[in-house]
This record gives sequence, structure tokens and C-alpha cells, in this order.
Amino acid sequence: MTFQIRSFDTSANTDNFQCGSEPLDGYIRRYASQDVRRNVARVFIATPENDPQRLAGFFTLSAGSVTCSSLPATMARKLPRYPIPVALIGRLAVDSKFQGKGLGSILLANACQKVSKASVVLAVAGIIVDAKDEAAIAFYAHFGFIPLQGQNDRMFLPASVF
Ligand SMILES: CC(C)(COP(=O)(O)OP(=O)(O)OC[C@H]1O[C@@H](n2cnc3c(N)ncnc32)[C@H](O)[C@@H]1OP(=O)(O)O)[C@@H](O)C(=O)NCCC(=O)NCCS
Repeated sequence: MTFQIRSFDTSANTDNFQCGSEPLDGYIRRYASQDVRRNVARVFIATPENDPQRLAGFFTLSAGSVTCSSLPATMARKLPRYPIPVALIGRLAVDSKFQGKGLGSILLANACQKVSKASVVLAVAGIIVDAKDEAAIAFYAHFGFIPLQGQNDRMFLPASVF
């Protein structure tokens, strides 16, 4: 199955979206559009190529920062002591009917590509993700994200990787 990934718009139906996490379902239904309006997140949605109203997955991108001391010592040593600029994938979710078919990987790769392009004009030292539970931690670890020290639910991928 092929998907179209585009900026969040009202043409996709969010009412039936269910990924197994109520806060993430609630976010795309109720808060995503206002986050975009207020410039606190960019939201991207995936819909099947042949069904542009069916919401299959989404992710959010924002700017963020991490303290140098939360990074592994080998990375921290090469960075300044003040807060380090990063991109934040605040939320990423795939509807249950589409899980296990590679869409999560496609969304994550697409998010990394977007950050890589943006980093030409806005420097980031890496990407951080908010991993909501053990399954999410395992998913991101699978792609090389490492836990930030003292913040179990936040993980980091250095810019050298993407
Ligand atoms: C986590 C989630 C985004 C994965 O999406 P998905 O479309 O099922 O993932 P994919 O099919 O692309 O799987 C990608 C790879 O990750 C692995 N993977 C997926 N879920 C995993 C998990 N819970 N633990 C470990 N590995 C996992 C798969 O085995 C696959 O590996 P492979 O490429 O070697 O075959 C999806 O299950 C989801 O939306 N869950 C609920 C919301 C959530 O937890 N979001 C993340 C935190 S905000």
C-alpha cells in the first residue's frame, strides 16, 4: 500500500483514528489544528493514496532544546555547555488497522528527511522524541534513538545519523 504524506488539513477524517493510545487519538482530533495555528507544532498526516480522507498516521515536528548534560558523555564533550538546539518529534502514531506494515518507519524516515532539509537554514544537533511507553521506547530504539540521561521518556538521535 502506498501513502501520501502531507501537512495536516481538514480533508482527512480524524474521528475514526485509533492507534491504541487515547492521548494520541485525542490529540489529532482536538488539538492538532490549534497547535498548527499557534505555531507550536507542524503536523503531517499520512493517507492511503487511493483514499485521501482516511487518516492512517501522523507525526508532529517542533523546535526544542536539550541540556548538554542529558547527552552521553562522548557527544556532550564535543558540544557547548549552553542548551543544544534540536528538532522534536512530539507525537507519532499509526492507526491500528495500518500498524505492522511499515508505515511507522515511513513516517519516521519522512520526519528525519524534513528535519535534515530544515537544518540547512536552522541548525539542530539532533532529533529528540517523546516516547510515551515501553513499546514506543522499543520502536525508537530499533532506529538508533538513545535514551536521554535522567529523562526515560525522551530519546535522542544525533544529526550525524540522518
Ligand atoms: C509505534 C508505532 C508508531 C509503530 O508503527 P508501525 O507502522 O506499526 O511500525 P512499522 O510497521 O513501520 O515497524 C517498523 C519497525 O519497528 C519495529 N517495531 C514496531 N513496533 C515496535 C515495538 N513496539 N517494539 C519494537 N519494535 C517495534 C517493527 O518490528 C519494524 O521492524 P522491521 O523494520 O525490522 O521489520 C505504532 O505501533 C503506534 O502508533 N503505536 C501507538 C502510538 C505510539 O506508541 N507512538 C509512538 C510514541 S509517540
